[in-house]
Formats: sequence, structure tokens, C-alpha cells
Amino acid sequence: MKTMLSHCLCLWLALALCHSAPPNLDKMTADEGQVAQVDRCEAVEFDAIAPDNQGVPYFFKGDVMWRGFHGPSELINGSFKELMEQQGPINAVLSQDAEDADKHLFFLMKDKVFNYHEQTLEEGWPKTISEVFPGIPDHVDAAVECPKGECVRDSVIFFKGCEVHHYDTQTKKVKSSHWSHMPNCTAALRWQNHYYCFHGNQFTKFHPVTGTVTGTYPKDVRDYFMKCPNFERERCSHVPLDAIASDGLERAVAFRGDYFLREDEENRDGWHAFPINESFKEVQSDAEAVFSYARLLYIVKGNKVFAYKSGDQYQLVEGYPKTLQEELGVEGPLDATFVCGDYSTLYVIKGQQMFEVELSATPRAVVKEARLPFPKVDAAMCSPSGVRVTVGAQFYEYESPRLLAFSRIRPQPHKITLEMFGCDH
Ligand SMILES: *[C@@H]1O[C@H](CO)[C@@H](O)[C@H](O)[C@H]1NC(C)=O
Ligand SMILES: *[C@@H]1O[C@H](CO)[C@@H](O)[C@H](O)[C@H]1NC(C)=O
Ligand SMILES: *[C@@H]1O[C@H](CO)[C@@H](O)[C@H](O)[C@H]1NC(C)=O
Repeated sequence: MKTMLSHCLCLWLALALCHSAPPNLDKMTADEGQVAQVDRCEAVEFDAIAPDNQGVPYFFKGDVMWRGFHGPSELINGSFKELMEQQGPINAVLSQDAEDADKHLFFLMKDKVFNYHEQTLEEGWPKTISEVFPGIPDHVDAAVECPKGECVRDSVIFFKGCEVHHYDTQTKKVKSSHWSHMPNCTAALRWQNHYYCFHGNQFTKFHPVTGTVTGTYPKDVRDYFMKCPNFERERCSHVPLDAIASDGLERAVAFRGDYFLREDEENRDGWHAFPINESFKEVQSDAEAVFSYARLLYIVKGNKVFAYKSGDQYQLVEGYPKTLQEELGVEGPLDATFVCGDYSTLYVIKGQQMFEVELSATPRAVVKEARLPFPKVDAAMCSPSGVRVTVGAQFYEYESPRLLAFSRIRPQPHKITLEMFGCDH
């Protein structure tokens, strides 16, 4: 499970670059009865999604399905034969403990429920929805299991239009509500104890009891739930980084060309790429150095310094940009900058020199200078584990700025793609 998860998280990274027309499902043909290739990096609106008993999520659309976060599509009837005899799309699927204590997949189609253990339809099934889930309408749009602890009792949440039904699996009581603030879901998924509603090629994370949405949603499914090649290319690019820092909310950020990568808020080992021009539109691209100080993220580009307030969105602080000279008392161009923790010393790297600027002083000016063991550094950041400098495709770690300045022994290099961004090459 652990291996599967870390593998998956590394695939949670995709750029919304694969924009093109939705696939025409009518035109998909079964290649000699074997393969039906649908590219899910095109805008697919899923019918249903649920994890199997190993925790691998299955995505369903029309008569095809995908296992996991990457890989080709396959025909549903190859695995769940009886479903496709129903003529019509799957309405919803649930992953639930069955009487044998193993997880089964329960598919809802029209007025029927199909109970599969692995890929075998259980005897006596399909049954009608009114028999299995009394009080729940036929033709639901989406459904998701919600265990006690996350819901008040062991429940299943059904979606139909903007109506939501919480079905208590013990008492069989149904509580219906209108979540009119939510989009109509075509699929719903419980993943890593979080709840996601899928609509179009987007998704919205919601609270399973109240339906509350917190954070910036909807987001593009292809950025998070599948491996789309452009994104992978960005994260795992071997092009040197321009700048790295923590963003003032203790999320690591890395800048390169038109994109910045940020450690995912919920999954610390996942990195995500975003276009710089959308989040930092005043900067557009090609940051040269970044640092965070007093909860602000500073971006240096050319002769200018931009200060941003971090949050769901980054906001330029009034009065910025300022010139490097007036803000920091140094002349550009700079190669890298960093501040350690709550200290107010800014380290500025320019060629082989490293300057110290006291940020609490006015006016700010260089107070110290040292010579680095590298002819040129691309980016540098400081975290509780020390200082990290990147040079080309590699990074080096030092316990402190002082050791970076004075140690003559170069530490072991680490590969950026492999050891920082979790790529496999
Ligand atoms: C699945 O469906 C395809 C086309 O719809 C058909 O060619 C194939 O024989 C079916 N396979 C099974 C196992 O029923
Ligand atoms: C959501 O479903 C309701 C029916 O329950 C419908 O009236 C409404 O138009 C739908 N909204 C969208 C955006 O499709
Ligand atoms: C940002 O850049 C991308 C690609 O470089 C471009 O397609 C997009 O239109 C730009 N967006 C804005 C808001 O400038």
C-alpha cells in the first residue's frame, strides 16, 4: 500500500496543458475486440470512480475503464462482463465492505445494483436499488461510501442533480439535503479520507457531512488524478531551476521558466506545477531568485523585487515592485537568495560571492561577504534541515549558511528530479 501510494502521489502532478475537444465516444472502436483507447488527458467526464479492494482507483466512462492514475483504457466488459449487458453507462460505483469483510464494488445502473467481488458478480445479484438502498431513487448520478468517523454513522452518500441523500447503512434511514452551492456530480470518490465530486473535467473537494467546500475549487482533474505527459515533463524536466524557497506558509516552491512547482498542501511528497503568469502575473516568467521573510514571498527578477502575500492565491503587496537597490541595497542580477527560519539575515548569492543583508535594518545594506565553493549556483533555500543549493541537475545540502560559505569539502550531490521531485529518472 505504501509503495502504491507514494507511486501514485508522484503521478498526482499534471499540467492543464492537454486541452482539446472531448473524446467522441461514438467513434471509439474496439481494436479487434481487445482495446478501446480513450485518452483521459483529453477532457473526460467520468461516470463513476471507486477504488478496488487493493486501493487502486478505477475510473469509468461509457464502455471503457482505467485502472490507477496512469495506463491505457480497457473495455469494462473484459472485467465486469454483466454490466455491459445492461446497455447504458454506469451511474455510480461504491467500494464497500461486504459480508465476507472484503471490499466489494457495488455498481449502480438505472434501477439495479451489481455486487462484484474482484471481477465476479455475486450470486443473487443484480438486485434493485429499492431493495438494497430503500429510499434512494433510481438513476443516481454519483455515490460514495462514507465510514463512521468521517460521516456521523456508516453511510453512503448518493447524488442526484443537486439533491444529496445520506443513507445510513445500519438503520437504512435516509437524510436528504440540497447542496445547491455544489456542482452536480457525475462521479464521487473517497480518496485518502477526503471526498471529491467530479463534474465535467473538474473536481471539487467537499465535506462529506455538510458539503462545505473550502479552498480553491473546482480544479482540473488532469492536474491531480492522472498522469498527463506535459505535466510529467515539467516536473521531471532536467532543465536547471531558477529559484527555490518556502512560500511563507512553509510550502516549498521552485521556479523554472514559465512554471513554478509547489509541494502539495495535503500530500507533502507531491509536487505540482502551475504557470507563473497565472499566480504571479506581475512576474510572468523567469524568476531569478526568491526568498520568504515575515510570511511574505519575495521574487527577484532583473532589477526588481516583488513581494507576495501567500494564501490560496498569491497577492502582490501594495507598493511593489521596488528596485533591488532600494529594497535590499544590492545590485542585480542575482543568482539566488535565502533566509533561514525566523532570522532576519538575507543571504544573497551572486556569482561566487555570498552577501549578508540585515533585513531588520534601514536602510538595508550588505553587512558581510563570503566566497562560495561553486562558480555558479542556480537556486538556494533554507529549511530546518539546512541550506540546499541547486547547481544544474543536482543539489547539495549544508547544515548551515556558515558551512556553505566556509567548508572546502563539497558534500555528496543529489539528483533534483529523483530526490526532490520524486521522478523515476
Ligand atoms: C466486449 O465488447 C466488445 C465490443 O463492445 C466486444 O467486441 C467484445 O467481444 C466484448 N467482450 C466480452 C468479453 O464480452
Ligand atoms: C443540477 O441538477 C438540477 C436538477 O436536480 C438541475 O435543475 C440543474 O440545472 C443542474 N445544474 C447543472 C449546472 O447542470
Ligand atoms: C500563460 O502562459 C501560457 C503558456 O505560456 C499561455 O497559454 C497563457 O495564455 C498565459 N496566461 C496568461 C493569463 O497570460
